[in-house]
Amino acid sequence: MTLRLSRGKRFALFSCSTIRKSARVFSTTARICGSVANVWRGAAAWFMVGAVLSAAADSQGKLNPAAWGSDHAGKALPEYVTGDECLFCHRVKIGPSWPKNRHQSFIRQANLEPEALGLLKTPETHAPFAKLVEFVLGRTNQLRFLKRSDSYGELDLLSTRLHPAGQKGGSRLADFRAPHWETETFANQCAGCHSTGVDSRTKTFSAISIDCFSCHGDVDLDHTEDTTKILLAKTRDDPARVVMSICGSCHIRTGRSRASELPFPNNFVPGDNLFRDFDVDVSDAAIGKESPIDRHILRNIRDVVISGDEELTCLSCHNVHLGSSLLHQEHRPREICWTCHDGRVKTLLPNWSKAASAVCDY
Ligand code: HEC
Ligand code: HEC
Ligand code: HEC
Ligand code: HEC
Ligand code: HEC
Ligand code: HEC
Repeated sequence: MTLRLSRGKRFALFSCSTIRKSARVFSTTARICGSVANVWRGAAAWFMVGAVLSAAADSQGKLNPAAWGSDHAGKALPEYVTGDECLFCHRVKIGPSWPKNRHQSFIRQANLEPEALGLLKTPETHAPFAKLVEFVLGRTNQLRFLKRSDSYGELDLLSTRLHPAGQKGGSRLADFRAPHWETETFANQCAGCHSTGVDSRTKTFSAISIDCFSCHGDVDLDHTEDTTKILLAKTRDDPARVVMSICGSCHIRTGRSRASELPFPNNFVPGDNLFRDFDVDVSDAAIGKESPIDRHILRNIRDVVISGDEELTCLSCHNVHLGSSLLHQEHRPREICWTCHDGRVKTLLPNWSKAASAVCDY
């Protein structure tokens, strides 16, 4: 399912069966669009609060999260081994659950969402747009429609969106007046967290949705003999800060790259220290403004990278490949639990699953 383009760039797309149909991938012309940062420049004042994370270690024993490791900010991304190559060997344990994994399927072929497409083409004004839709992004809170851009490694985002059926009633379209393809939004504001191998200079990605590289990094194939050579393997005891950098590279939805000024990390490669270039405000005031899901994430990040409390990381509670968080019930009650529970683990706060995100625009 991987397509090698002439420049040696690769596109991995979904399952092996769908890719063959998609041979006409992106055009090979790379486009440098350096003007993007303008969107964010005006927000420089807001950005200053982010200094909290980059401050030097202080007298209260707070760590300087930027003080270890290295990064790829402004550097070239490695030519990584793609998911279909990994799955050729890992087809027994990882293969069966991967197509359904929410990371992998966050952006998927539009024909997998016939109802959403049906609704989109109902207004007469939308039928011509619906015809061009190739991918759907999102799930419970909002669906967005996408098509390949004329430029290499980019996607166009339809202005109209869909709110799936839920507490507020049946599925409905929003922003459906004057539908148009937004040609810059995905590259400038979304790509870094919703696709793989994004180069901040060109704003292009090498694979749609999230591939193994996003978490396991630039994999050494010698790991078959010695699994300590691969990030997140059982035989490695990856430091908590390394794990927080990996998961935080997408799950911190309130940060910004210092160098690129984009709302996603600058050429992050798992193993890097995310916090050398990525600024995020983890003050109580900033965390308190977010929804409970983002709150527990930011709090966990702060505990590890600022307070040096490494007892819990994302992986203490979440198993990515099983898509399960049952592990979380095994820990002793502590501060982080009260972002969702009401002081007793038997009860959940009424708003614990309330979702909203400024960066994701829902
Ligand atoms: C900093 C990384 C980051 C950026 C930038 C980002 N997203 Fe997201 N987005 C995420 C993560 C992580 C989630 C999953 C949140 C969760 O499950 O709680 C998400 C979830 C979503 C969802 C909700 C899915 C659902 O139905 O629950 C939508 C829709 C979405 N993003 C769209 C976008 C769009 C459109 C953009 C660009 C305008 C964007 N995102 C930019 C990281 C990001
Ligand atoms: C969103 C992050 C993420 C992505 C993407 C991801 N993994 Fe993993 N993987 C993990 C984590 C974290 C672990 C460690 C086990 C755990 O706690 O879930 C892991 C463990 C594994 C293991 C060992 C599991 C075991 O129980 O033996 C294999 C093999 C693996 N991953 C392969 C892959 C392959 C192949 C892909 C791509 C198709 C992939 N992973 C994509 C996060 C990820
Ligand atoms: C040539 C076959 C092959 C390829 C290609 C391959 N692996 Fe592996 N991988 C293995 C073998 C063999 C092991 C060691 C036995 C095991 O744990 O499954 C292993 C181990 C692992 C582990 C550690 C499992 C543990 O015990 O925790 C992870 C994680 C992993 N591979 C991920 C990947 C990812 C991600 C890719 C693609 C970038 C990949 N592998 C490509 C064969 C392969
Ligand atoms: C490349 C971006 C990216 C990285 C890296 C990433 N995630 Fe995610 N993650 C997402 C997006 C996007 C979603 C939303 C999927 C959805 O709502 O369908 C998600 C969903 C999740 C979910 C909810 C869905 C589920 O399967 O349970 C959990 C939990 C999660 N991620 C944990 C992690 C952990 C732990 C790590 C680090 C090992 C990690 N993620 C790394 C982007 C990322
Ligand atoms: C103390 C345990 C704990 C820690 C630590 C933790 N989480 Fe969670 N997280 C949970 C629980 C429990 C849920 C709710 C799970 C559910 O929906 O069933 C959750 C929900 C989520 C969701 C939304 C799941 C969904 O279904 O949409 C995401 C995304 C997520 N966590 C990511 C992370 C990331 C990334 C980290 C590390 C920075 C992290 N979590 C740290 C326990 C934890
Ligand atoms: C991000 C939200 C979230 C966080 C943080 C969280 N929980 Fe939960 N917890 C849930 C949800 C949702 C459930 C019910 C579904 C499930 O088990 O995943 C739950 C269920 C439980 C249950 C089972 C309760 C029952 O009646 O069966 C226990 C025990 C529990 N959590 C303990 C904890 C502890 C201890 C912590 C802190 C270390 C914690 N939780 C942190 C969301 C969360």
